[in-house]
Amino acid sequence: MSSATKKTVFVLNGPNLNLLGTREPAVYGAQTLGDVEKLCTQACERHGLALRFHQSNHEGALVDWIHEAGRLHAAGELAGVVLNAGAYTHTSIALHDAIKGTGITLIELHISNVHARESYRHHSYMAAAAKAVMCGFGVLGYGLAIDGLAQMLAQPAG
Ligand code: DQA
Repeated sequence: MSSATKKTVFVLNGPNLNLLGTREPAVYGAQTLGDVEKLCTQACERHGLALRFHQSNHEGALVDWIHEAGRLHAAGELAGVVLNAGAYTHTSIALHDAIKGTGITLIELHISNVHARESYRHHSYMAAAAKAVMCGFGVLGYGLAIDGLAQMLAQPAG
């Protein structure tokens, strides 16, 4: 399949995820963000999807990428978005509004099981705007989320 006809998956990572590999390895594991990108590339290749992979420590950059995904969605060229918003998950009405405002299919993802951690990580502003929420699979969750988006594309009513 040529890249022109492939639908695109955006994988967006928020603050501090650039530190993966050295950041609290007991919580987030030893794999780096580069390793996560490779895993996402492989998952997209399995499903004939194109990948856009980004990380930023800045909320507005994440909003801008969601808007860009929204433009692809409107053109029928988006498979969906996997968002690990990091700590913005628990604070950002702006990201919630961006997801709602674009109508994209978005999977909220966390490497750790946020519900087994501090209570301030239990609330998510993303969840009410997300199609699905997953946490606790470690970095494997990224590949699983892409598999899920691909299955939803194949069986839209499922
Ligand atoms: C995280 C969980 C968040 O609570 C935290 O602020 C992160 C990472 C995760 O992937 O487990 O930065 O989203």
